[in-house]
Amino acid sequence: MMDKSQIVHLLAQMASDASGPESLMAETVSLLQRERPHYNWVGVYLLEGNELVLGPYVGKPTPHMRIPLDKGICGAAASSGRTLIVDDVNADPRYLACSLETRSEIVVPIIRDARVLGEIDIDSDQPAAFAEDDRTLLEAVAEILAAKL
Ligand code: SME
Repeated sequence: MMDKSQIVHLLAQMASDASGPESLMAETVSLLQRERPHYNWVGVYLLEGNELVLGPYVGKPTPHMRIPLDKGICGAAASSGRTLIVDDVNADPRYLACSLETRSEIVVPIIRDARVLGEIDIDSDQPAAFAEDDRTLLEAVAEILAAKL
């Protein structure tokens, strides 16, 4: 398993080699899922007007292809511009279910020049799967993506 700095280093390399944002986002979600198997669903949403629109993802198809900013944990993270970690999704009234197996979630905004461009959304089938270490990893990943979107 690659450690955090190895993932960030590889991703920075991928970002400079990528042919465009779409392929970089696709490579990023695959890398994260491969290196952190408990990240059961990994996707990128991009902000279009007042809606988050699903881009590349790995995991089961979700009914939530478009999420208004005032809905879901995804909408809350994008609106606040802050990372949200939910240890028990079933106890959070904002939660929009994607899969019955999902127990916890982290959403990390992608921000450039104080503007939210989108977010990385990750679901885990394990309860309380996300800690500070995941936050710092994913915030570094979001920063790399932000420069390329
Ligand atoms: N759970 C998210 C919706 C997206 S799916 O997890 C892919 C939310 O509550 O906003």
